[in-house]
Amino acid sequence: MPFRLSPCGHTLGVMTQPLRAGVIGLGSMGANHARVLNDLPGVELAAVADSDAERLQRAIAGSPALPYLDHRDMLREVPLDLVTIVVPTGLHRQVALDVIGAGIHLLVEKPLAATSDEARDVAAAAEAAGLVLSVGHIERFNPAIQELKRRLGEGQGGRVIQIRARRVGPFPHRIRDVGVIHDLAPHDIDIMRYLLGDEIERVYAEAQGHINTDHEDIFAGMLHFTGGAFGLLDINWLTPTKERSLTVLCEKGMFVVDYAAQTLEFYENFAASAREGAIASVTEGPMIRYLIANREPLRAELEAFRDAVAGTAPPVVTARDGLAALAVSEALVTASREHAPVNVEPVAVRQ
Ligand SMILES: NC(=O)c1ccc[n+]([C@@H]2O[C@H](COP(=O)([O-])OP(=O)(O)OC[C@H]3O[C@@H](n4cnc5c(N)ncnc54)[C@H](O)[C@@H]3O)[C@@H](O)[C@H]2O)c1
Repeated sequence: MPFRLSPCGHTLGVMTQPLRAGVIGLGSMGANHARVLNDLPGVELAAVADSDAERLQRAIAGSPALPYLDHRDMLREVPLDLVTIVVPTGLHRQVALDVIGAGIHLLVEKPLAATSDEARDVAAAAEAAGLVLSVGHIERFNPAIQELKRRLGEGQGGRVIQIRARRVGPFPHRIRDVGVIHDLAPHDIDIMRYLLGDEIERVYAEAQGHINTDHEDIFAGMLHFTGGAFGLLDINWLTPTKERSLTVLCEKGMFVVDYAAQTLEFYENFAASAREGAIASVTEGPMIRYLIANREPLRAELEAFRDAVAGTAPPVVTARDGLAALAVSEALVTASREHAPVNVEPVAVRQ
């Protein structure tokens, strides 16, 4: 096991002392980061920062973490090993560069930044400084997705033909800096890349803005993977009920995930199960719902980040994953504006 010295001088790899953590941004998501880090074995929540004094006080209630209104003061005054960045997306680049400048490992909430150019700045700076940079693609840590990945890897469904994601719900008035494509699509783009182990080479989308007309709040997207599978995205902020689901259509049947309920079902194609080789027919077979132990994905995500910082495991979600999801999101926005398919350039970064 490699031993490394943390920025605070702790010997990592054996985790003799807890890693000192900070959170920047304590809104609806950041308050959860603070709650989980405050209770994570091997981690001590040492400091938090938010420009809103009330949120700051609320987040540190019952915690010895030091509160800061300005994250730059926190970075200067408190020795930290890792920081999570949970400010609005438009601020990710600047805050991430501040954290990298202080020599601290970082997890940036999704999307990695507001634009690919900004995200590349962050990835390049982290790489040059030799720091762990992870991205909050939280659905990777959903136990239903992990079980689905395992079953696909065992070849249960055979070849994947199409993946469809539906992520719909009411309008979040606090989000003003990006549209629904940048805010929500990275989740499903990342999961599709992860499940298929493949990259998206071409996209098309139709989008509209109804409430916040600076950006789209509803869109339908189509993704083409290099291996031939295609993806469908049905994502919006205009639906009165919340739904987060994923359907993976394979030659031998169809998997259905409910992200929120953390359930996984398999609907067998009876005709394919009775016959080896290429798909010749589709008939309805039995349905199985697998038993899955529920877990808080954010806890699993922050455990994985802790282990990557400690040097005991590679990061699960890398800067490359963050850049790839953002590049596809950007291509979807362009396609919806130009009413034409858009090719996606491969991501060039080592992490
Ligand atoms: N992974 C997920 O499932 C998930 C879910 C929600 C949000 N997010 C991401 O998390 C980020 C934050 O989203 P949110 O919904 O929590 O937003 P939010 O508006 O609820 O919270 C943002 C917080 O950042 C604070 N802030 C603003 N500027 C600051 C600055 N300069 N320094 C310190 N604090 C500052 C605000 O006061 C606020 O408390 C976004 O990038 C969003 O995409 C991810």
